[in-house]
Amino acid sequence: MKTAKGFISLEGIDGSGKSTQIDMLVRKLQSTGYEVVKLREPGGARISEQIREILLNPDFKGIMGDDTELLLYNAARAQVIAEIIRPALAAGKIVVADRFAWSTFAYQGYARGLGAEKVLRLTELTCGDCFPELTVVLDISVECSRTRTAKRGEAPDRLESEKTEFFERVRQGYLAAARDYGDCVVAVDAGRTPDEVFADLWNAVIKKLEG
Ligand code: TMP
Repeated sequence: MKTAKGFISLEGIDGSGKSTQIDMLVRKLQSTGYEVVKLREPGGARISEQIREILLNPDFKGIMGDDTELLLYNAARAQVIAEIIRPALAAGKIVVADRFAWSTFAYQGYARGLGAEKVLRLTELTCGDCFPELTVVLDISVECSRTRTAKRGEAPDRLESEKTEFFERVRQGYLAAARDYGDCVVAVDAGRTPDEVFADLWNAVIKKLEG
């Protein structure tokens, strides 16, 4: 995979503390002097946000086909790359994405069972050389994820309403990515305090940016 300098993404199942860590990361990067563009996937651009609504709509549970899902995630990604990510990187900014292509690898490739090879082929088509130089996976057990998200008390979206086994497979997908693509994917134990997790995250980020 050809990677883009200054492009970082965070990954993890729900409840892994992704939002907290992203906010901490953006603040720290800014205070270090970097200009930062933060976005979420699917989303980050108007068209991508509209695709997100289709993807997460619980009414489509049991209706949306796995290939449709795969292609919609990639369509949302193609738009945000062209409209937001490429111009930001070209302007020398750091892009921090809340999820990116390793989500597709873990959720569609592993959990839906579409296979790593098919997903990576499509990823290459969608991203070209616009692929994160570093992805940090916030790794927690599915049990811990469930406990944390239950506390939020929000109605689950289409993906969140999947069964425990689905998220076990997502987790295995992420761990496989860190194992097989260690040059650009790092897994961090996210079952600790936010400050402990952030110390590892920051260490990985600064090593990559200044390396
Ligand atoms: P979130 O941004 O609230 O986490 O919602 C995005 C959901 O979409 C989440 O359940 C993970 C899922 N997802 C995929 O299945 N494939 C993908 O490629 C991406 C980016 C997200």
